[in-house]
Amino acid sequence: MSTVAVIGAGYVGLTTAACLAHIGHNVTCADIDETKIAQLNNGKIPIHEARLLELVQEGTAKQLLKFVVGAQQAVTESDFVFLCLPTPQRGDGRADIGAVLEVVEEISPIIPPRAIIINKSTVPIGTNASIHATIERSDIAVVSNPEFLREGVAVTDFLQPDRIVIGAMDEETGERVAALYAEINAPIVQVDLASAETIKYATNSFLATKVSFVNGLAAVCEAVGADIELVTRGLGSDQRIGSRFLQPGPGWGGSCFPKDMQALVRIATDAGYEFDLLKAVIEANEQQFDRIVAKAEALLDQDLSEKNLALLGLTFKAHTDDLRNSPAIEVAQRLAAKGAILTAYDPMVTSESGIPQEIRLAASMEQALTDSDLALVLTEWPEFTRANWARFISLMEGPRVVDARNVLDRKEMVELGYLYDDLGRT
Ligand code: UDX
Repeated sequence: MSTVAVIGAGYVGLTTAACLAHIGHNVTCADIDETKIAQLNNGKIPIHEARLLELVQEGTAKQLLKFVVGAQQAVTESDFVFLCLPTPQRGDGRADIGAVLEVVEEISPIIPPRAIIINKSTVPIGTNASIHATIERSDIAVVSNPEFLREGVAVTDFLQPDRIVIGAMDEETGERVAALYAEINAPIVQVDLASAETIKYATNSFLATKVSFVNGLAAVCEAVGADIELVTRGLGSDQRIGSRFLQPGPGWGGSCFPKDMQALVRIATDAGYEFDLLKAVIEANEQQFDRIVAKAEALLDQDLSEKNLALLGLTFKAHTDDLRNSPAIEVAQRLAAKGAILTAYDPMVTSESGIPQEIRLAASMEQALTDSDLALVLTEWPEFTRANWARFISLMEGPRVVDARNVLDRKEMVELGYLYDDLGRT
């Protein structure tokens, strides 16, 4: 067991703190947001993550997990200090690492001798080396330990990772950090700092590229009369490709892919290489939003003005409540710009405060569909797949559906009498 501090109680920090306590470490998690810390100390968690509440309650009950306000309180007894801080995208595409630098400056004079600062935040390549250079203490090491946590399944991704990446300046430091994860059964990839930082950007960028590839392939399937589900079954069976992240959709979004793609393009340019492939993927993703709009126009005689559209799903993917960079919102804004009247239903979105003012919220799928000229499935919530579409057809003004997640049964929808479109299925 080690004494660990985790600075930042967001998606990554809270998951890291709860999981490190779960595998037996003594963890203090700090955040500057007093309200959030008070909530956490009352056993409530401010985000929607499967299993997280259970682990937070387990850790606090075992007194292996506590929450404090401010980093200083957390670090004075800690041999390891995890930085799980936001590195938002700036206007020029570069990552803003201000929060990371601020915390490092605050804690480096007071952390114990030979402590290790472990950076989980996604930072531009070279950042951890420059952080180490700013710390005027030769006994402190800095390690890059990027996270690969998907929202909604972050706990599972932490406890059952495909690999743990540790970037360190020397082997002994890397081994000390690797020992923290002894209870987790996963290969450890020990590399240098810059390579660890690059692995993080490479992973997200490759996954985004894979998603955009399958979105483009779905368009090809539509044009040539092939079926994307059969094509991706054959494609994904190739071990070199793999079957995950081959699900067509309205485009990729969320708090990471867009930010990390822009950051890697910018990092490459700053380093003297124009990563044109990634620029093309970013453009293809924008075009995917337009393709979904075009599908709705095709079912409404190319005229969306004054049409009542039902948006099923607003979050950037199912099993999260996160609206950041949501493809559903991107599509909605394009529909509104063409004069459509938008009513949305999302099981995890109950307040209109976090959504564009052009969108009205309905309290149920039925309410959203009533009197609508067309419905778009934009997030793959199971509720939409399980719904009784036979009942909804009489509620709608016009039985038209654009299934931008391929979650409905095409044959069944057509037999029910819907004008139905999806992505690349025959
Ligand atoms: C991602 C990475 O997966 C994770 O490793 C990293 O740490 C953070 O960023 P997340 O942002 O939670 O996680 O979303 P993810 O599940 O990767 O999906 C990203 C986007 O791609 C979503 O908009 C999703 O709907 C879309 N997607 C994903 C598809 O359209 N098709 C797929 O097959 C997979």
